[in-house]
Parts: sequence; C-alpha cells; structure tokens
Amino acid sequence: MDHFVQWFRQAGPYINAHRGRTFVVLFGGEAVDADHFSSLIHDLALLHSLGIRLALVHGARPQVAARLREAGRDLRYVNGLRLTEADDLRYVKQAVGRVRIRIEARLSMGVANSPMHGARLRVVSGNVVTARPLGVRDGVDYGFTGEVRRIDDRAIRLWLDQEAIVLLSPLGYSPTGEIFNLSAEDVAVATAMALRADKLLVLSEEPELRNPAGRPIRELSPSDAAHLLAEQPDLPEETARHLRQALRACQAGVRRIHLLSRGVDGALLLELFTRDGVGTLVTADIYEGLRPATIDDVGGLLELIQPLEDNGTLVRRSRERLEMEIERFSLLERDGAIIGSAALFPFPEERLGELACVAVHPAYQNSGRAEALLRFIERQARVQGLQRLFVLTTRAEHWFRERGFEPAEVADLPVQKRMLYNWQRRSKVFIKTL
Ligand SMILES: CC(C)(COP(=O)(O)OP(=O)(O)OC[C@H]1O[C@@H](n2cnc3c(N)ncnc32)[C@H](O)[C@@H]1OP(=O)(O)O)[C@@H](O)C(=O)NCCC(=O)NCCS
Repeated sequence: MDHFVQWFRQAGPYINAHRGRTFVVLFGGEAVDADHFSSLIHDLALLHSLGIRLALVHGARPQVAARLREAGRDLRYVNGLRLTEADDLRYVKQAVGRVRIRIEARLSMGVANSPMHGARLRVVSGNVVTARPLGVRDGVDYGFTGEVRRIDDRAIRLWLDQEAIVLLSPLGYSPTGEIFNLSAEDVAVATAMALRADKLLVLSEEPELRNPAGRPIRELSPSDAAHLLAEQPDLPEETARHLRQALRACQAGVRRIHLLSRGVDGALLLELFTRDGVGTLVTADIYEGLRPATIDDVGGLLELIQPLEDNGTLVRRSRERLEMEIERFSLLERDGAIIGSAALFPFPEERLGELACVAVHPAYQNSGRAEALLRFIERQARVQGLQRLFVLTTRAEHWFRERGFEPAEVADLPVQKRMLYNWQRRSKVFIKTL
C-alpha cells in the first residue's frame, strides 16, 4: 500500500508535465498478436485519460508476410524493404485492414472490471498519409512499396483537439488514387515531424539497448546514436532501423524519441512516469559539447571557475589539485572554450558520490546547461553503482532543491568528507537519491 502511495505521488510531476502534449506511439504488428496486447491497449487508454494527445502508428509486417505466404506469393526484400507487386497489394490490404480492425476493437472495449471500464475512447483513421512510390532504385523496381510524401497534420490536429485517438496504418494513398505499402517507421516519423510532436515513442521487438559493458543505455545524443550505428554493425536489424529513424526525427526537430522494448510489461508507463525510465532516449537536448575532461582542459577550466573562487562561490582549488583530479570533471565546450563544469567524486564504500564544482559561464546561464551537466553526472554515478549524490553549497541551495536534492546534515556525509568539512564556510549539505 505504502509503495503504491509513494509511487503515485512520484508520478504526479510527470502527469502534469505530459498533460496536453502530443505523443506519437509506434508498435509493430507483433505487438497486436502478442499475449499481453491488452496490457498495451490499457496503458494507451490510461495515457489518453491523463490528457495526452495520442497518434498511434501500427505496423503489420508479420501479418502481411503470413498473408502473402498463405496466398503462395514470394516474399522479396531489398535493403530491408519489401517489394510489393501489383498482385500482392490485395493481400497487403487484407492483412493491414485486419490488424487495424483488431486494434480498433480492442480500443473500444469497456467491460466492467477491466482497466478500460468507462474509458469510451474514440478512435479515428482516415486518408491523412499521402504516399509516393519508392520507384526504381539501383535497378530494383519496388512496385507498390512507397514512402510518405505528406501527412495531413491539420486533420490529425483537429481530431486530437476533439480528444480522439488517431490510428494510422502503414498504407498511404497517392493523388493518382493508388495505394502504397509503407514502413510503419516512416509513417510514425513523418507524423511526429508534421505534428511537431513532443515525443515519439517506439516500441521495439528487441531487448533494450546496452553498451559494450552490458549496461543499459538510457540517453543518446544524435551524434552518440550515429556513432553507435557506425561502430556496432552487429546491432539487430530492427534496432538499427529504429535508431536511424530516431536520428532522422531528431534532426528534423522532434525533441524526444524514446526507444522501448515491448517485451517489458508497462514499458510506456515506466518510461513516462518514473525518473529512470526503461528505454533509451534519443534527444538533441543533451548538449553536443558535453564530455569528460582531460588534462589539456585544466587551463580552460581554471578560467571558468577562478572568478567564482574569487567571489567565494566555489571553494578554491589549486592548479596542481585540478591536474590530479581532472578526470573527475565533466565539461561543456563551445567553440573551443570551456563554458560549464561539474565533477563527481565517488565514495564507493558508502555508495555515495559528491557532486562538486557545478558552474556555467554567466553568458550561457539559464538555458538548461547546468541541468544537462547534472543529468550527465547522475548517469555516471549510476553506472558506478552509487545510490546517492550529495553536494555542499553556499549560494545555490534552491537550484539543487528544485532538482530533487534534500537538506541533510554534515553527519550524513562519508566519514572522510566529514573530517574535512569546513565549519567556517558553513556550506549546506544536500543529498539526492538516485
Ligand atoms: C547555479 C548554476 C550552475 C546554474 O547554471 P544554469 O546553466 O544557468 O542553470 P540552468 O539553466 O540549468 O537552470 C536555470 C534555473 O536555475 C535558477 N538558478 C540559477 N542560479 C541559481 C541559484 N544560485 N539558486 C537558485 N536558483 C538558481 C535560474 O533562475 C533558472 O530558473 P528559472 O528558469 O526558473 O528562473 C550557475 O548559476 C552558476 O554557475 N552559478 C555559480 C556557481 C554555483 O553557485 N555553483 C553551485 C555550487 S556547487
């Protein structure tokens, strides 16, 4: 019971933050055939009831493949895309239609004693995806396989304004009246771009992304994502496809793309309403210049922090000490200058870390840079197995409190740190549980 109350309270800020936002959610045809598809539907209904504007995009790859096989047609793929011949099209329509009808039916459920009771969802689909043929590429004619040419975002917005859930299929129509088989990823990304969606949530069939050390990757900047694609050629096919599309969406201005593993029950809820989430967030909000410091940065770092040491905001550190501790620092660099810093000193025995030397150059303040540094440090701390982060501050108490740090006592510090505490400076102690 306590656990529930605590959890619900923690979700409060997220509920407020997401209300009125527009999310595009992509899931493959596999999800529709899976055992716990109804859980996914319940979660989507819940998001809708919390005031989130939802555009759903479903795939139908396995169903289309099965239908074509049943009809004795050959399945031909080039570069991960299915070739659609004129005679295939009717089977594609059948399969996609069936999937869509199943989803609509599930979203219409409302039996008592189910989470859908009283939900009364309105689901809308229509001719909002205009498509064009992929055409002939490298000598291969893709036939009725197409790509998105335009999304009628005005129509979708009107439906969302009326509190409907919009459901889009991987089919599009051309002005010539033809039907094209599209990839659901293409439809989802184009829709997120056209709607200027706040988030694109991609449910993948693969397990979560992990780094070579086996730890889950929680955040990727566009350049991190590009590196990952270039350096890990053995990524599962679907993961690589999703990453490429995430990168495309990110570059086109979709602020946050979440890659989630559908196998995790409640993945959407965990990602959206808990601090740590369960997926990988691809976002350009992580500053590109954010990186660990090296010995060559000591000079630039001193330039940033010396004025703050001179006015007493930061504790003085000698150049020698900085040189010794430089690998504890993370920096924000812009045009070759160091404009932000933060350091993490771990106390592994106590599972505690000290966040120190948080500073952003005055010319660059108030644009979320310190926040980005904090997130970077928190991630490092978690990777190192630390459970809490403490900070000593004299002037930025509220900045830390607004970011989840709570007042604590000197006695709460690691022994080693307690002995060095400067009683004249009288810094206040704050601790955040990670
Ligand atoms: C504190 C500091 C790191 C914030 O950097 P920043 O990049 O501007 O921070 P963000 O953009 O992430 O956050 C900006 C918000 O924090 C608030 N803020 C900035 N400094 C603050 C302070 N000292 N106390 C409380 N709130 C503060 C801003 O008003 C703004 O909030 P608002 O948008 O609601 O008005 C920066 O002001 C700084 O370098 N200060 C001097 C060094 C320092 O005090 N470090 C902490 C001791 S370890």
